[in-house]
Amino acid sequence: MRTVYVNGNYVPEDEAKVSVFDRGFLFADGIYEVASVLGGKLIDFPAHIARLHRSAGELGMRIDVTDEDLLAIHRELVSRNNVEEGVVYLQMTRGAIDRDFLFDTDKLTPTLVLFTQSRPLIDTAVAKNGMKIVSIPDLRWGRCDIKTVQLLYPSLGKMEAKARGADDAWMVRDGVVTEGTSNNAFIVTKNGAIVTRPLSHAILPGITRAALMAYSEANGTSIEEREFTIEEAKDAAEAFISSASVFVGPVISIDGVELSGGKPGPVTLGLRKTYIEESLKRAL
Ligand code: PDD
Repeated sequence: MRTVYVNGNYVPEDEAKVSVFDRGFLFADGIYEVASVLGGKLIDFPAHIARLHRSAGELGMRIDVTDEDLLAIHRELVSRNNVEEGVVYLQMTRGAIDRDFLFDTDKLTPTLVLFTQSRPLIDTAVAKNGMKIVSIPDLRWGRCDIKTVQLLYPSLGKMEAKARGADDAWMVRDGVVTEGTSNNAFIVTKNGAIVTRPLSHAILPGITRAALMAYSEANGTSIEEREFTIEEAKDAAEAFISSASVFVGPVISIDGVELSGGKPGPVTLGLRKTYIEESLKRAL
């Protein structure tokens, strides 16, 4: 049985509890981060904590723990649960109070929950075989740049993708691809350009996306930030997704149109290798 962290305590998972009045439960008034673990060490940790602060700031939510405490809690959970490869999930909500749309942040104590999930991240079926994508309209709210726990639409999107025989969905708004249900979207054009849409309120500023851009820049292949349509994606040489839990995931088809001969493309696999190598050098 896992040990999880709840509001200052390390407890067996079946004893971990939060209030039914928690605003995370009643209003999805919560933010989260998912940091991966490789070889028992945390990947891109400082960037995840920086984004947590940004999310909290945008929502006027207090963070009552220090960054040092957060690192210590992550490490303690990784160690207590013997996580070699997997993720640490962190969720912070505004806290528990009788149900009311209005709230006074000063009167609330934020709820903090963390747990681990051990699973292979490097040697995966997605890395080996790639993933099939279908497109769906992006029906989420207007602040997708904040990492909130309002994940009903992405969850339903993944269910729809599965029902359509695919592995995940890319969302389309105003004719252009915004992002995947839980990842950022990239294409490699037939001219060899690597393209992802620019940051805005429409997408999450992915930590993996930012790291990939920095590592590519350092290698002399910059990633172009511009919008692309689903039609352009279907006509691309390669496509892939990035996220903390998949790293770089090759896309082998979009709405049934095969890409890169139906197998992971060379540019994608190169980026995946670079990301993993560079991340390991910086792991905490
Ligand atoms: N999802 N876009 C969305 C909508 C996401 O939910 C995520 C992450 C990303 C990629 O961000 P990062 O590289 O920082 O993981 C982009 C996490 C992994 C999740 O919900 O499980």
